[in-house]
Amino acid sequence: MCGIFAYLNFLTPKKRSEILELLVTGLKRLEYRGYDSAGVAIDGANDKEIALIKKTGKVALLEEAIKEISEALYLNELTETHCGIAHTRWATHGIPSEVNSHPHRSDDHNSFVVVHNGILTNYKEVKVFLEHKGYKFESETDTEIIAKLIYHFYKQHPNFSFRELVENVVQQLEGAFALCFKSKFFPGECVGTRRGSPLLVGIKTKTRLATDHIPILYGKDAEKDPDHRPHGRVEIPSIPRSGSTEFEPLEDKQVEYFFASDASAIIEHTNRVIYFEDDDIAAVRNGILSIHRVRRGMDDPNHREITTLKMELQQIMKGNYDYYMQKEIFEQPESVVNTMRGRVNFETKTVVLGGIKEHIPEIKRCRRLMLIGCGTSYHSAIATRQLLEELTELPVMVELASDFLDRTTPVFRDDVCFFISQSGETADTLMALRYCKQRGALIVGITNTVGSSICRESHCGVHINAGPEIGVASTKAYTSQFISLVMFALVMSEDRLSLRKRREEIIDGLKNLQEQIRKVLSLDGKVKSLAENLFNKKSLLIMGRGFNYATCLEGALKVKELTYMHSEGIMAGELKHGPLALIDNNMPVIMIITRDPVYVKCINALQQVKSREGDPILICEEGDSETIAFASQYLEVPRTVDCLQGILTVIPMQLLSFHIAVRRGCNVDCPRNLAKSVTVE
Ligand code: F6R
Repeated sequence: MCGIFAYLNFLTPKKRSEILELLVTGLKRLEYRGYDSAGVAIDGANDKEIALIKKTGKVALLEEAIKEISEALYLNELTETHCGIAHTRWATHGIPSEVNSHPHRSDDHNSFVVVHNGILTNYKEVKVFLEHKGYKFESETDTEIIAKLIYHFYKQHPNFSFRELVENVVQQLEGAFALCFKSKFFPGECVGTRRGSPLLVGIKTKTRLATDHIPILYGKDAEKDPDHRPHGRVEIPSIPRSGSTEFEPLEDKQVEYFFASDASAIIEHTNRVIYFEDDDIAAVRNGILSIHRVRRGMDDPNHREITTLKMELQQIMKGNYDYYMQKEIFEQPESVVNTMRGRVNFETKTVVLGGIKEHIPEIKRCRRLMLIGCGTSYHSAIATRQLLEELTELPVMVELASDFLDRTTPVFRDDVCFFISQSGETADTLMALRYCKQRGALIVGITNTVGSSICRESHCGVHINAGPEIGVASTKAYTSQFISLVMFALVMSEDRLSLRKRREEIIDGLKNLQEQIRKVLSLDGKVKSLAENLFNKKSLLIMGRGFNYATCLEGALKVKELTYMHSEGIMAGELKHGPLALIDNNMPVIMIITRDPVYVKCINALQQVKSREGDPILICEEGDSETIAFASQYLEVPRTVDCLQGILTVIPMQLLSFHIAVRRGCNVDCPRNLAKSVTVE
């Protein structure tokens, strides 16, 4: 939800054209976080005021706008040290428009500019205060108060460092934010900070870094530093002294910094990153990065680690596919294997989840399991609840994070709470996590994003290892979340003799999944022709029950978000209690009917639909001629064990929504009004 990108080169000569290109490419990588408008701020040519370029719409339009004014930007001018900040917006306060786009500015001279991801809850109060002081606002956003407020502090304390000014500003802010600042008064400096929204910095040097961590300065420590200069610094770069293992700094301390909302924007430049924590203030001055915190808490560490990313650039590129979503659907034969790699032993029929191993005895003693998430992640919990109940024999509650918080649901010390999130940053899920943590529950994170907030704030967890998911609609993350929860159920039941046969059939089922998913993907052509008949319909109902109910919900969500058609996932058992009234010979219906314990009940529902002149498209098991006989159109998926069937039945729904969206001319990777990572409530 909004993407922040900032780039600072220190003693590394770069043409202005290169800097702009870097900023625009960074934004393109983050575009899935929001695409209502985009903007950049760089130093004006020949030491003029900061130049702001903003455009409504996607980053490509900003790129066009930059080309149009290229002469005024002196693109060939070389800068040795420079800081540029950039933003791609998902509108929250104020419509998508140029004036509401970021970076926002303090005044007509662009003295301070800021980019923001998040929502400020007290912006109205701060705005009134600033208006009384004579500040005039140009946008409808919450963010603009930040730019004005820092200028206000600057006028009051002209001797403050850039970092101190930001520190003063964030103490006045309530809500969620990740911020990057640039100022004409502090050329070649950049300050970033976060609370509730993600922010990291990538560090690129010519030679290896001399350190793998950076000290944190607390409270007034920084002010004791001679010359007010931060001493928590990355010593960069350095080279081995001949004949010695020590490092000494190069004379020429060339370094580049990349601040970003997530790692996908920086992986092509460097794999060395620091993930910031809430209330870290990170400042780059004279090429040195320092991290400062106003207060020290009891368990606060002395430093932040520099971690090495394992992600590869090609993982975030489209390759031979036209769309990221399409690529991600077709990656599922590999992504499901990556989720199980090193965890499921198909020979010994055992499962080990390293990230929660130590906590299993405690989990086995718990009062109940709670699975909490939003959207697709929530559906993965629905998909696996029945198996968790069966294999753990514990009560399992499945909760939408927002509703869970609205209800102030009672949570106890002996509860185990799972937080399922692809991005690991979803605000509702993160807040629910903090709510449960405060009440003493054990927190288990199921995420796809190493270093994300949910991942860091959990006591233990499972990385689903699906690889970066760029398409806004979640696909491969769903199947990997599904498998992660199945693996957890298997771990919990490993010492149960009575469940041995069941566990073994599930593990065999997991083993065959890769091949079976490939078979389902080979239905693509057939699904595309079904899409031809459906693309101009107004509505699409998807029905099923038991293990396949989650496929109905997830399928309907995919159809809604990608095609903007109305779609509803209906529990077949509820048909007679209302939805049957929707059925006639015009209403498109898909029914998922596989040979599981609710098969006969599903066939009853099918007959009820048919007797109201419905003609459902069936998703059923390969070779099930008895079921196929009921339908004029059907998709056959391979048979697997009942509790895994949902992995195979959801893929045709992913493909169908994709093809309908393409046929309707919708933006598949960036559906309107949505963003990949929803970091606001
Ligand atoms: C739907 C979709 C969303 C997300 C939801 C939670 O395709 O992507 O419904 O599943 O916003 O996001 P995460 O999993 O990142 O917490």
